[in-house]
Amino acid sequence: SSSLKLAVIPGDGIGPEVTAEALKVLEAASPVKFEQTTYDLGAERYLRTGEVLPDSVLAEIRDHDAILLGAVGGKPNDPNLPPGILERGLLLKLRFALDHYVNLRPSKLYPGVTSPLAAPGEVDFVVVREGTEGLYTGNGGAMRVGTPHEVATEVSVNTAFGVERVVRDAFARAQRRPRKKLTLVHKTNVLVNAGSLWWRITQEVAQEFPEVTVDYLHIDAVMIFMATDPARFDVIVTDNIFGDIITDLAAAITGGIGLAASGNVNPDRTAPSMFEPVHGSAPDIAGQQKADPTAAISSAALLLDHLGHADAAARIDAAVLADLSSRDGSPRRTSQIGDAIVARLA
Ligand code: NAD
Ligand code: IPM
Ligand code: MN
Repeated sequence: SSSLKLAVIPGDGIGPEVTAEALKVLEAASPVKFEQTTYDLGAERYLRTGEVLPDSVLAEIRDHDAILLGAVGGKPNDPNLPPGILERGLLLKLRFALDHYVNLRPSKLYPGVTSPLAAPGEVDFVVVREGTEGLYTGNGGAMRVGTPHEVATEVSVNTAFGVERVVRDAFARAQRRPRKKLTLVHKTNVLVNAGSLWWRITQEVAQEFPEVTVDYLHIDAVMIFMATDPARFDVIVTDNIFGDIITDLAAAITGGIGLAASGNVNPDRTAPSMFEPVHGSAPDIAGQQKADPTAAISSAALLLDHLGHADAAARIDAAVLADLSSRDGSPRRTSQIGDAIVARLA
């Protein structure tokens, strides 16, 4: 069949290291050829040229079938890097501009993987995190900065349109899973405006999915259950910031941040979806071949699945599972893990 166009953004820190391994595995597993374009974006480009994501580059990226991203973000407190400049100007700009309203973050505790929980049970859930609204819209401001009267606001934006489309997507995912259970997570006891919108829309959309069991938890209680009974979760739907926080904890209880994959999905396919590990650029271990590329590799599997190659995605997942089950704790370089997973592709 014809080739697909892949935009690759290796980014900063361990981003290029893990992306190289994800590409090895993607090329070895994919039934289709990927015509790749690599984009030099991130801290280094910004520090060199002052550019974060020029409009012309965004337009070019848009003209691809999918995006594979490593990680962005410089060293903490670099005086030359204004806080958030790359996070907002590159990562969030891509998520917003390409309408990645479903931020898909699966968590599965594979056999043989150690969890910090003594009795985690069978953990296999997916967080559907809203990706284009909430506290991430940059709606807010600061007044009287630096004075004792400084006021800083970050306003969470939630639209009926935005909430309904992500909630419907989450219900459809729950419907396709054996347990057919959906948990809405919010803080309706305090955030009453956004909370009531999320609650009402969830009740309404539930009418279309009579087979799906609907549950509700406040975000603070989710932290309790993540640590005591994560097996209770099937599909979680939540807003942008709660989803961000939940998924780092979810990663930590299912083998660590080095394993957690994600997709920034545009379900309507009006623009390319973007696949990336949940982790960041890890400046503390960058350039040392110490990073685990598994999250990036599993993100490549999500990419293949999104493009309709479910079989190839399943082969990557099986190879990852085999590699995880064979780990004995001896250290391996980033590239050795990538090579081992390629070798395990059936
Ligand atoms: P981080 O995920 O980069 O690192 C947290 C800890 O996890 C570090 O100790 C790191 O060494 C470890 N770690 C992360 N990935 C690993 C891997 N694959 N293998 C082994 N260990 C791994 O989070 P942070 O330190 O909060 O953020 C660093 C930078 O990354 C910041 O600039 C932040 O804004 C950015 N960030 C970017 C993304 C993204 O690009 N999607 C996500 C999160 C953070
Ligand atoms: C993530 C990251 C990003 C987020 C940051 C870097 C903007 O933490 O992908 O989880 O908050 O979404
Ligand atoms: Mn995060």
